[in-house]
Amino acid sequence: MPKILIVEDDPSLRETMITFLRDCEGYEVDAAASTQEALTRLANETYPIVISDVYVDERTGLDILKAAKSGNPDCSVILMSGRGSMETVMEATRRGAFDYVAKPFELDQILEVVRRAEAAAIPSGDEDTEIDDMPETEMIGSSPSMIEVYKTISKAAPTDSTVLIQGETGTGKEMVARMIHNNSLRAQQPFVPVDCASIAASLLESELFGAMRGSYTGADRDRVGALEAANNGTVFLDEIGDIDHGFQLRLLRFLQEREVRPLGASRAKKVDVRVIAATNRDLAKMSEEKKFREDLYYRLAVVPITLPPLRDRRGDIPLLAHFFLRRASERYSLDARITGSGLRALQEHTWPGNVRQLQHLVERLAILAPQNRLDEEAVLDAIQSVSAKEAGAESLAETETEQIRKVLGATGGNKSRAAKILGIERKTLYRKLERMG
Ligand SMILES: Nc1ncnc2c1ncn2[C@@H]1O[C@H](COP(=O)(O)OP(=O)(O)OP(=O)(O)O)[C@@H](O)[C@H]1O
Ligand SMILES: [Mg+2]
Repeated sequence: MPKILIVEDDPSLRETMITFLRDCEGYEVDAAASTQEALTRLANETYPIVISDVYVDERTGLDILKAAKSGNPDCSVILMSGRGSMETVMEATRRGAFDYVAKPFELDQILEVVRRAEAAAIPSGDEDTEIDDMPETEMIGSSPSMIEVYKTISKAAPTDSTVLIQGETGTGKEMVARMIHNNSLRAQQPFVPVDCASIAASLLESELFGAMRGSYTGADRDRVGALEAANNGTVFLDEIGDIDHGFQLRLLRFLQEREVRPLGASRAKKVDVRVIAATNRDLAKMSEEKKFREDLYYRLAVVPITLPPLRDRRGDIPLLAHFFLRRASERYSLDARITGSGLRALQEHTWPGNVRQLQHLVERLAILAPQNRLDEEAVLDAIQSVSAKEAGAESLAETETEQIRKVLGATGGNKSRAAKILGIERKTLYRKLERMG
């Protein structure tokens, strides 16, 4: 039977609890009538369970909690108070109290909490996992397919060669593009990303090549195109598989001549730009089907890099999960942990959204999982709510108000970050907040 320390200044309650827990239930019990006495006991002995009143004397149960935890981090501290408030409960939870019991309580009630604390102390076989030597890099992954990717990056980066990065959504294409630039001789020069899919076909031309004042309606001044802005540096043409046929020809000419002529300009200028392109489409197949110019495809794919989907490198999932967990813990000042069963559950999922989806799920769980502990149950719950959303249902049904509050609390009120973590659109979050008032 674990030894219990009771801290309570009210003599009659103290005696009742001692009698009940020791004489009726058979626990070994020590008791303290003041915080000073309690602190002395805690300094001399370790208790697996401490039950303390919140308002004792000039010090409080929170001081007892702190002392008990610093002596024995696994100590379960149960706080009791007749004057509990949102603030004290929050503070107790934040500092790792095991539970908070409102006075007056039935003795059976305190016994139930003690039993739970006892059960929690017994190793469940689902231990928190740790990774000692987290690599000093932002690009995580040591599976053979990723090592091949690193090799190609390291060979291609210092050259000026055009690179085509392919891979499903969320596999890290933009990250690779930035790594290539950062490891090239152009690292100190601009890196200019252009999302070809989000720019209307009619505007893509001026976006890339620039435009002179008056060259089209609304062009009230000269506009420098991305290719010129990236001079001496790198331009990243993202979602290149989405550009139309006419623009494919424009781009091909540029790759051959390396000159830009802004809309409405009479002359072309030479530019020195490295081109990196990316797409989640299969450009080889598209060019076979004549949907993408074959000549442009070959011009772009001088160095082709294909990023593997996450489901084909499941061995990297534990490292990625720990990496994102640590980052979320630091960013939101949490002590989030993942257990063996939690890691296995992550490894078994298929991850249609790849690394990005894993990152968001881990971040969300770090904040919302009970006790910030990612075990199998927490992971499966989260995966299920994501799948439900993919199937069309809006996620976050029952406890949504509470989830939104917690996440907004963690992000310091940053709504776009909160929406990402919650896996909903920002618009949806605004609507929900309005409804919550
Ligand atoms: N190997 C990795 N290690 C650490 N983080 C990664 C890795 N791969 C991707 N990420 C993270 O996942 C997220 C998505 O990556 P990125 O934007 O590069 O993907 P993408 O392939 O460009 O996706 P999309 O096709 O949707 O544009 C980013 O937050 C990135 O930091
Ligand atoms: Mg991208």
